[in-house]
Amino acid sequence: MQRRQFIKLASTTTAFTAVGGIGWLLQSCKKDKMDMSKSISVIEGSFDTAIAIPAIVSNPSLTAKSTTASIIKGKTSRVFGYQDNILGPTIKMMNGANANINFQNNLAEETNIHWHGLLVPANMDGHPENIVQAGSSFNFNYQINQRAGTYWYHPHPHGKTSHQVFMGLAGMFIVNDIEEAGLNLPANDYEIPLVIQDKRIYFDYSLNYSPTSDEVMTGYLGQYICVNGIYSPYHKVATRWYRVRVLNGSTARIYNLSLSNGASYTVIGADGGVLATAENVNNLLLAPGERADILIDFSSYTIGTEIFLQSNSFNGGTAQGNDNFKIMKFIVDRQETDSFIAPSSLSAIVPISVTQSSYNRNFDLKQADHGGHSGMNMAMQHTINGKSFDMSRIDFSVNAGATEIWTFDNSGSDEIHPMHIHGVQFQVLDRTGGRNTLIATEKGWKDTVLVMPQEKVRVIMTFPQNKGKFVLHCHNLEHEDSGMMLNYEII
Ligand code: C2O
Ligand code: CU
Ligand code: CU
Repeated sequence: MQRRQFIKLASTTTAFTAVGGIGWLLQSCKKDKMDMSKSISVIEGSFDTAIAIPAIVSNPSLTAKSTTASIIKGKTSRVFGYQDNILGPTIKMMNGANANINFQNNLAEETNIHWHGLLVPANMDGHPENIVQAGSSFNFNYQINQRAGTYWYHPHPHGKTSHQVFMGLAGMFIVNDIEEAGLNLPANDYEIPLVIQDKRIYFDYSLNYSPTSDEVMTGYLGQYICVNGIYSPYHKVATRWYRVRVLNGSTARIYNLSLSNGASYTVIGADGGVLATAENVNNLLLAPGERADILIDFSSYTIGTEIFLQSNSFNGGTAQGNDNFKIMKFIVDRQETDSFIAPSSLSAIVPISVTQSSYNRNFDLKQADHGGHSGMNMAMQHTINGKSFDMSRIDFSVNAGATEIWTFDNSGSDEIHPMHIHGVQFQVLDRTGGRNTLIATEKGWKDTVLVMPQEKVRVIMTFPQNKGKFVLHCHNLEHEDSGMMLNYEII
């Protein structure tokens, strides 16, 4: 039996065939152990489950816990969540507001919360050193001091981040401000958050996080693509514009987002808020940790039209990018008229001039002992500049208020590294080698940038006044957990 047929059977009938299940499990194990060079193939479902939209809250109390969720229709899986379900609520607050978030750790292990993309004081940033032990709590208290954007939150305990995010600890953190409100972008029911994650799920519907040493190198890929914690969902839309905020909350999988009818859509924002000008694209790469703020115009479709958000194949070296797969289905189900006109000019973003930079740093992403796929006898360690993460070592310091140019150098490597810097938002200057160009989202403020094999990417940033210790790391969470992270200090 083909896996695809099997899962269709498993998800559409209540009777569950043990033979099929074990067969699939064995095949899956065999794939893990024997066929490491190939990516796990995605299993498309029937897109017959309504998408879940997380509750929107400001200043919630968050409790990390082990709980259950229905990821696959009609089935229950044990997951982690910041609520009685997988994932967490969408936190939405105004720039300038005070975040005061009580966090309780009811997991049986240590965790913490990192506010990805938010410029918060070092002791509020969820540095892997600031751990909340099992059964303990912590009050996160900081002022939001940055422009509107789609940020997110997730755990950051060293060596455990990937597992905890995979199990379901993640949520969006939307910051609003007056400038963005002036754009009158589609809101409320017409503003849809999409947290895209792939899960590896076994025949008994349990989530399985157990990367082999080769998967620590290539990234741990799941066969089930989930949106807001639901596998193979649909969402009903009206004939009008929608704003869709997309977060790639996967541990390693990159999506090349496109619409199944080939229609273009409009990229209006990236990690750190809206772009200077909107850009129409047919596809967009979104790496783990990155966000894309897009507008989709459904106004010209007839009622009943079905359009999939899908991922197209892309050139991702040996690790991934080979397959095309559908992520979710939009069903145009009602007529509505809106007078919205997508503005082409969105915001004034002043480029940071290279002449302002007082220091250049180079980060070599090449892995010294990579190449022979001999990872079976030794736990793979990932490095930056040949160094594996050491909690107590400060790798370098930067001056508050100073501007620097950092180069992420992935030439001579065949691994994919989405590089993320805590404590700051940066601008991407250029990419040389590989794709040799910048994509739409890279023309705005960023905190995570995809560095493909053979590429060198230069970013420029001015450090805020939040002094203290922050990390930079690869947001392929398998890489991060295996050491691809450094400490830097703002002094
Ligand atoms: Cu989204 Cu240091 O992480
Ligand atoms: Cu972060
Ligand atoms: Cu990496």
